[in-house]
Amino acid sequence: MKVDVLLGLQWGDEGKGKIVDVLTPGYDIIARFQGGPNAGHTLEFNGIKHVLNTIPSGIFHPTAINIIGNGVVIDPVTFKKEIDALVKMGVDVKSKLRIATRAHLILPTHRLLDAASEAHKGKEKIGSTLKGIGPTYMDKTGRNGLRIGEIKNPNFKAKYDHLVAKHKEILSAYNFEYNLSELEPAFFEGIALLNTLETINCEQYINTALIEGRKILAEGAQGSLLDIDFGSYPFVTSSSTICAGACTGLGLAPGRIGKVFGIFKAYCTRVGSGPFPTELHDDTGERIRKSGNEFGSVTKRPRRTGWLDIPALKFAIMINGVTELIMMKADVLSEFDQIMVCTHYMHKGEKIDYLPYDISPEFVTPIYSELKGWKKDLTGLHRAEDMPEELCHYIRFIEDKTGVPIRIVSVGPDRKQTLLRDKVTA
Ligand code: GDP
Ligand code: IMO
Ligand code: MG
Repeated sequence: MKVDVLLGLQWGDEGKGKIVDVLTPGYDIIARFQGGPNAGHTLEFNGIKHVLNTIPSGIFHPTAINIIGNGVVIDPVTFKKEIDALVKMGVDVKSKLRIATRAHLILPTHRLLDAASEAHKGKEKIGSTLKGIGPTYMDKTGRNGLRIGEIKNPNFKAKYDHLVAKHKEILSAYNFEYNLSELEPAFFEGIALLNTLETINCEQYINTALIEGRKILAEGAQGSLLDIDFGSYPFVTSSSTICAGACTGLGLAPGRIGKVFGIFKAYCTRVGSGPFPTELHDDTGERIRKSGNEFGSVTKRPRRTGWLDIPALKFAIMINGVTELIMMKADVLSEFDQIMVCTHYMHKGEKIDYLPYDISPEFVTPIYSELKGWKKDLTGLHRAEDMPEELCHYIRFIEDKTGVPIRIVSVGPDRKQTLLRDKVTA
């Protein structure tokens, strides 16, 4: 057996949560492989809207096991809130959730360090979600971090104090004011809850499950253009958001990767700082934001909006080895007479169709093709066969440029607003 991977091809918030939830009935295990509570994965069904941060998006299904992999960073405080909310909804979280012993813990001081670093950067700030992600991954690679497996260690508190002492030194160098004693009780309550949940050696669990023939879907967080190596550095997150991250974040050999589902919006959004070649600063951008309800699931910040960027999409498809595409939020573009798609950039006087090293406005100018809008409400559609011809043309245009089939088209936030194109020839 192989592990299928679902990941975002843009700057995050593509709709990963919705599609993982839709696909979960076909899988036995859903496994998050990186990121932490900087993620906000939204699911909607039966009139309920729910946002998950650390818990995989298969949790609402009755039998699937949901794994938080070793590549994830866990904040016990947000984690407890998530669990409490799910339990309140009647979800049997404990029986379906497994946590990797090698996953790292976000300490309250990691969150403080995130805030201090961003304040120090001033106008140059990353626009972090301030969830402590960067500092936690820095401690992981700096070999100072605290892992889930340490919680049961009698020396846990001593190790915690040791790391916090280090953080306090850095915070004082930043001249950052804080009150740690206000933050610690919630942290230790979260640790107590984590202590009651089932932990696993993720690599062993996953590989054994594969041998037993169980079907596994790996769920990415953030998006490929926020990847630590391939994103618009330094305006990126601190983990490997790409397909290779599923290998390191779960303990999988590369040959164990099966299908790679690449998910993208029919346009682009970005939250936080950093270059965004097709960004719209005008009324059209505002219309997309309004109609797509483009406000952050975690921070509620308005998302920046722009037209679809094919060179960026092709780049993400290439580094991830995407085998199937999933296009989200087609319904949001229904109101437009014309839809623009960036197919190339002007870069140093040359027309290119790939993503160069620097995509800042001084280096790239997008070149657009204009496509006819479909001007029809899509939100009530149930069959791909009923899609308007202009939308079919939009889909074929993207398939033609990327060389990858679009298997699913999403036309609304609800589970049911999902069109499967498997039987439809492009
Ligand atoms: P994720 O982080 O990739 O899981 O995406 P988010 O949940 O942060 O953001 C996606 C947003 O779009 C959520 O509010 C979803 O409910 C919503 N959404 C998902 N698919 C669609 C769609 O096809 N149409 C519309 N209008 N909204 C959608
Ligand atoms: P999901 O999984 C969109 C962005 C932040 C910021 C940058 C670094 O919901 O798609 P960090 O908190 O990681 O230090 O922030 O990355 N960012 C996201 N943007 N969706 C996300 O996750 C994101 N997680 C981080 O806005 O620009
Ligand atoms: Mg999100």
